[in-house]
Amino acid sequence: MTKVTVTKSSLKNLKSNLLVMPFAAKDLKKDAAKTLETFGLDKGALKDFKGKAGDSLVVYSGGSKLKIPRVLLLGLGDAAEMDDFRKSSYAVAQQAKCLRVQSLVFDCSSITAWAHNTGETTGAVAELLVDSMLYGLYSFERLKSGKLEKKKGKEEKVQLGELKIRVNAGSVKETSEAVRGGEIIADARKLARDLVNLPGNLLNADDIADAARKSAEKSGCKVTVFHKEEIEELGMGGLVAVNKGSRNPPTFTILDYEPASEPVATVALVGKGVTFDSGGISLKPSNAMEEMKCDMAGAAAVIGAVEAASLLGLPMRVIGFIPATDNMPGGAAQTPGDVITTYSGITVEVGNTDAEGRLILADALAYAIQHYKPDAIIDLATLTGACIVALGYSVAGLFSNNDRFAGRIYEAGRRSGEKVWRMPVWEEYDELIKSEVADVHNTGGKGAGSITAAKFLEKFLDGHKTWAHIDIAGPAFSSKGGNKNQGGTGFGVRLLIDLLRAWE
Ligand code: BES
Ligand code: MN
Ligand code: ZN
Repeated sequence: MTKVTVTKSSLKNLKSNLLVMPFAAKDLKKDAAKTLETFGLDKGALKDFKGKAGDSLVVYSGGSKLKIPRVLLLGLGDAAEMDDFRKSSYAVAQQAKCLRVQSLVFDCSSITAWAHNTGETTGAVAELLVDSMLYGLYSFERLKSGKLEKKKGKEEKVQLGELKIRVNAGSVKETSEAVRGGEIIADARKLARDLVNLPGNLLNADDIADAARKSAEKSGCKVTVFHKEEIEELGMGGLVAVNKGSRNPPTFTILDYEPASEPVATVALVGKGVTFDSGGISLKPSNAMEEMKCDMAGAAAVIGAVEAASLLGLPMRVIGFIPATDNMPGGAAQTPGDVITTYSGITVEVGNTDAEGRLILADALAYAIQHYKPDAIIDLATLTGACIVALGYSVAGLFSNNDRFAGRIYEAGRRSGEKVWRMPVWEEYDELIKSEVADVHNTGGKGAGSITAAKFLEKFLDGHKTWAHIDIAGPAFSSKGGNKNQGGTGFGVRLLIDLLRAWE
């Protein structure tokens, strides 16, 4: 746990292990030399420091006027976009981990100027700094017993216990208030990442429901969990069919956050919760199959987003819907060619059991719309490999039947740094998911794999006019990035919170 505090004490009086001194690239010549001189630090360091966003250089402050032994020169780039601050604070976190510091002071004396340059409030910049630093400090350690390390005689794990943000007296109040928001969002993203990082043997559908329950207890929202029999009775044929090959029963969880006063809107969030996707009888190739523990990242993002919405006290009702199961090829598994009846009554020919996400989402979308009549409905899912082919690993696919709504989500993506790019759901694509024997087919053949998946989901909206589907197959999980930043990213939480905050 990292404690975040705000201080207006002068840098010369503060004590900690590391002092972060940020500089915009264009101010480097003018400001940095002067600042270093003021504190009695060696200006030679500036030869090796360019000030690009995320650049950093550690200098040791022995003999200077500081009580802090090390200074991290931090580049802010142009310091003109929120992304500059996101990158820089992320770099601070990496350095803090590397240097194993227990406490650091981040000099944010210029925070009002930064806010001015980015066109944001001081609070928004402070929130982002806190959130990004906490995000960068994340590592997934809970499955390590520590036994091997001890044998090698390694010292104990050190983690940043205290993060002090230094601002001028006039910014203390606004910054302090924003710190809480940053912590709420960072916690929600951490929760999502932890869930994604847990492997299939440690996180099944029941565990997802439990995680949702725990989150609801923390944030004060209502939770309902449907178990196997209820799911069968409700007629959720998609979820039942995907679950057939598994030893673990499915769950369908509803998280309901209602604001204290009359809600300005009701927003439904649906998250794909496939705890492990083997492909089922249409088995996936073994290469990188282990990464399919990430197939519940949509569910994780929804749990995180509802939690944050509730703790931030947002003015709309936000309801999360989480259909959960693994997709396994057991003896009772559904087989290619099966025809199933989904919750809506629409029948589906299951041409490929590996196109399972859309089957469980079909039930959840129809259920959410029928029972809650939301003003808007958004689903998040690691739905198609084709989306990675199209957009890569840092951008999500956006599909919507509503141009204005899509535009708002696009903007939220730009602001939050969790970017989305829209693809069409034109009627030309309907042709591809026609079935000879049922109402619709669950795959669309070779081309346009992400779009046909979205077109499939669209069939279950019962005419709802404000829907968006976000395919997070790429950005939900990182297999690269060294052992520290690998794994679940929590993608979607920030995006959704940003969208909800800007609701119109
Ligand atoms: N969970 C996968 C999609 C996926 C792939 C997520 C890679 C993350 C990384 C999904 O259930 C799936 O298997 N989709 C198939 C659909 C196909 C059978 C029509 C795919 O993308 O190959
Ligand atoms: Mn699949
Ligand atoms: Zn899947």
